[in-house]
Amino acid sequence: MELVLVEWLSMAIRWLHVIAGIAWIGSSFYFIHLDLSLQPREGLPPGVQGEAWQVHGGGFYHMVKYLVAPARMPDELTWFKWEAYTTWLSGFALLVVIYYLGAELYLVDRAALDMPGWAAALVSLGTLMLAWLGYELLCRSFFAGDDRLVALIGYACLVVLTYLFTTLFSGRGAFVQIGALIGTMMVGNVFVIIIPNQKKTVAALLSGKQPDPKWGKEAKLRSVHNNYLTLPVVFLMISTHSPLLFATKYNWLIVAIVLALGPVIRHFFNSRHSGMGSPWWVWGVAAAGMGVIALLSAAGPREVKLGAASAPSFAAVEDIVLTRCSMCHTKEPLWAGIAAAPKGVTLDTAERIHAQARLIALNAARSDAMPPGNITEITAEERGILAAWFAAGAKVK
Ligand code: HEC
Repeated sequence: MELVLVEWLSMAIRWLHVIAGIAWIGSSFYFIHLDLSLQPREGLPPGVQGEAWQVHGGGFYHMVKYLVAPARMPDELTWFKWEAYTTWLSGFALLVVIYYLGAELYLVDRAALDMPGWAAALVSLGTLMLAWLGYELLCRSFFAGDDRLVALIGYACLVVLTYLFTTLFSGRGAFVQIGALIGTMMVGNVFVIIIPNQKKTVAALLSGKQPDPKWGKEAKLRSVHNNYLTLPVVFLMISTHSPLLFATKYNWLIVAIVLALGPVIRHFFNSRHSGMGSPWWVWGVAAAGMGVIALLSAAGPREVKLGAASAPSFAAVEDIVLTRCSMCHTKEPLWAGIAAAPKGVTLDTAERIHAQARLIALNAARSDAMPPGNITEITAEERGILAAWFAAGAKVK
């Protein structure tokens, strides 16, 4: 029963997390587009930056943006914040349920750093909070006047942290950790700067005072950061389904490229929506970046030289899979905490091993995604044998 409950709970939180994320990113993309497409015109009310006409769902919308506030505050204001908060709360719940409670399987990697699950969870939580504090300090430091410098320093720090996480955690754990860290920075921006500054502005206006323009400027910088971080964070969250990305030698470099590609791609849309033309070169850069990622992901797992061994016998392959994989990948797994063959993949007979050759190669030869955290201590030579077997046609005899 506990098993069913945990499975159901993690599915329900996952669903909520994706829906909240869609709502947050959707509304933020919408408002960025709206903001950029506003056009000034004669005869608009005082204090209005511009207007935009939109059509959707059978009606026409006439949007105007008041730069500071309208002459009279409306009785009702819609705030956009729970999308962001719900995304973080559900994401953090998932981090705890999957990666902290299941740290032995998903966060720890004996080949990277052998530590108990609880220690890995503490390291993850501690670095998450420290990195967020560091980001807040950076945005308030004496570099703060120079937005480009802040972005460059931020980028360099994220790449260094990614590299650090790949030496502390499993590849999958490292990707989720850096994704969670960026997500925390983004929600922190909403929670600590953007919404409080909007509240201060509204309060000042209601009491007839002039709002400090600094509040708007701070909020703008944070929302630009969020705009540029959105695409990389989504990449990181879904990359845990792709062993070639997170469990190969240059995984940290792949993240570094994606962190740079996100802003480049956003630049295309930002420029286009503000009527400054479409910088088509962006897609050339994006395609080149994705090509480099594909090449890097082909480099294989950390310690293995691919293609070194000559075609091995099936007996050798079967021996490896039965000793390193089948205690989990069987109908009634022997591993405590795993109740059924994970993802329905059974690897306990010659036929099953042959049928799953592709997945074996992907997860255990061309990457080190399996066994999780190298729990069963598969060796580099054994991975080499699996790779050579697959390359030679995955024959059973
Ligand atoms: C300690 C238990 C354990 C061992 C040992 C283990 N696995 Fe897994 N395996 C898992 C779990 C748990 C998952 C599900 C991962 C997830 O939730 O994404 C999984 C998933 C998989 C998948 C499915 C991946 C997908 O894309 O759906 C494959 C294929 C796989 N393992 C192959 C192997 C191979 C090959 C070995 C041996 C070299 C191995 N596993 C050893 C626990 C194990």
